[in-house]
Amino acid sequence: MDIRKIGIVGAGQMGNGIAHVCALAGYDVVMNDVSQDSLDKALALIDRNIERQVSKGRITAGDKSAAMARITTTLTLADLGPSDLIIEAATERETVKQAIFEDLLPHLKPETILTSNTSSISITRLASRTDRPERFMGFHFMNPVPVMQLVELIRGIATDEATFKACKSVVDRLGKTAASAEDFPAFIVNRILMPMINEAVYTLYEGVGNVKSIDEALKLGANHPMGPLELADFIGLDTCLAIMNVLHDGLADTKYRPCPLLTKYVEAGWLGRKTERGFYDYRGEVPVPTR
Ligand SMILES: NC(=O)c1ccc[n+]([C@@H]2O[C@H](COP(=O)([O-])OP(=O)(O)OC[C@H]3O[C@@H](n4cnc5c(N)ncnc54)[C@H](O)[C@@H]3O)[C@@H](O)[C@H]2O)c1
Repeated sequence: MDIRKIGIVGAGQMGNGIAHVCALAGYDVVMNDVSQDSLDKALALIDRNIERQVSKGRITAGDKSAAMARITTTLTLADLGPSDLIIEAATERETVKQAIFEDLLPHLKPETILTSNTSSISITRLASRTDRPERFMGFHFMNPVPVMQLVELIRGIATDEATFKACKSVVDRLGKTAASAEDFPAFIVNRILMPMINEAVYTLYEGVGNVKSIDEALKLGANHPMGPLELADFIGLDTCLAIMNVLHDGLADTKYRPCPLLTKYVEAGWLGRKTERGFYDYRGEVPVPTR
């Protein structure tokens, strides 16, 4: 299948990055969100991020203006109707994603491929509630999308080979590397990464270390480029909690129970970088630990 037009649902930190790389690779992109503010911020951010690539000499000013001209935004899901591929990147909540696919389906061409950028939710279950489970799969980018090389491709039980090949060809055209994962809670990367982040929050909760010592210990002691709490803020604490809940519910093992302190931060609305406060406070010149 020839994919030319990509519809992206959700213009948050992932949606804007996905729009950025797809437009630069030559795809026409229509980006949807429920919030005009999110759409405006996403476009401004894409412009800034692509400009940085121009100033580093990686692409030309002409590449930038062509990419920006390929992106349109809309508050109306129906405008994604002509898309060949949909990448859903809205909030990590199953009811939200289900409602999006339900509203979208009547506007789509029969051959359109549906995908979700979900970090953890069952692809098979999302697919089963659509009219095309064979043309549905997980298309899981890493954050920040323009920088990270990996895309996890997750087949649901019913996903057919043509759909997998079409999505793989998009990953190739983006210049990224696909890793194939089976449809079990949180797939590969987050199945391993999130329990580590959750354990770092337990280490903080139990007073074994503070934010600074925990992050420094993992950076200097395990050679991680970012500390786990810094990384949690970067991902978004609501997303981290949602993924831990999916692991806990889906695998029914108490080793995946979310740390109560992670829940507390989310209850406070301290979701990390996107709300300027999480394990660090980002409102000043330099990030300051909050514990
Ligand atoms: N943050 C990460 O590091 C990361 C990495 C890989 C995948 N993901 C996944 O990507 C998805 C998005 O995460 P994010 O970090 O970009 O979240 P985010 O909070 O930055 O953005 C979510 C966006 O979805 C929009 N939205 C909510 N309901 C909507 C609806 N009904 N229709 C259209 N838009 C809607 C919100 O307005 C917001 O702009 C999630 O499924 C998440 O698990 C996140």
